[in-house]
Amino acid sequence: MRIVLSGPPGAGKGTQAKAIGARWTVPEISTGEIFSDQVARDTALGRRAKEYINDGQLVPDDITIAMVRDRLAAPDARAGFLLDGFPRTTGQGVALDSMLAELGTSVNVVLLLELSDGEVQQRLAGRRVCRDCGKTWHIAFDPPTLTDRCDVCGGALFIRDDDVPEVIQERLRVYARDTAPLIDYYGAQGKLVTIDASGPVAEVTARVLAAL
Ligand code: AP5
Repeated sequence: MRIVLSGPPGAGKGTQAKAIGARWTVPEISTGEIFSDQVARDTALGRRAKEYINDGQLVPDDITIAMVRDRLAAPDARAGFLLDGFPRTTGQGVALDSMLAELGTSVNVVLLLELSDGEVQQRLAGRRVCRDCGKTWHIAFDPPTLTDRCDVCGGALFIRDDDVPEVIQERLRVYARDTAPLIDYYGAQGKLVTIDASGPVAEVTARVLAAL
């Protein structure tokens, strides 16, 4: 399976990627997670990416495409992959198609998680992330027992710098301008499947698995 998971910020891409990864044994490749790991380790790439992420902007295509090219060359991605949050521009979509064509393959399906802006804001405003194990919580929809500690590992929970209201607004604007055009791009290829991402996690997962 070569799956692309797309949709607005906070639609639940990361949450559903974990569910798909548990059902289909394919590596989950999240550009957002790779960038956030680089930021946490204070690498040169992380310092560059942070300038864009904290303003709600996309990291430039040349940096992002080179990073994904390297990741897809790893042996575990040969039999398939689940891309979470890539491609996010038409340029990235074209680059992905040409990378895969060089390998004699292509994307099988693009799952588009659809969610209203109001629900996106609710989900992102309540998101908490564990600093140690990376598990994502939500203060209302999936609350940890203690408000500031991860139930899984006991690590401290934090609010992402880009989960503040003004940056959420900017991420939504950037999504509409740069990422939404991919809907037509993959629609024209007959690969787009739209999923209603509202409602509880398990219901969305059931829709995603039924679509796959
Ligand atoms: P990234 O981390 O990928 O951010 P995003 O696309 O904005 O997506 P999120 O991680 O915010 O949300 P999600 O859809 O994964 O939702 P989640 O499952 O966590 O990227 C961050 C930044 O990196 C970008 O802004 C950009 O700067 C850069 N970047 C990344 N990729 C790039 C690319 N290709 N090109 C250029 N730049 C790139 O869920 C959100 C919350 O809701 C959680 O609390 C969760 O518990 C809860 N939740 C999930 N599902 C449900 C449900 N069904 N019901 C109730 N609550 C739910």
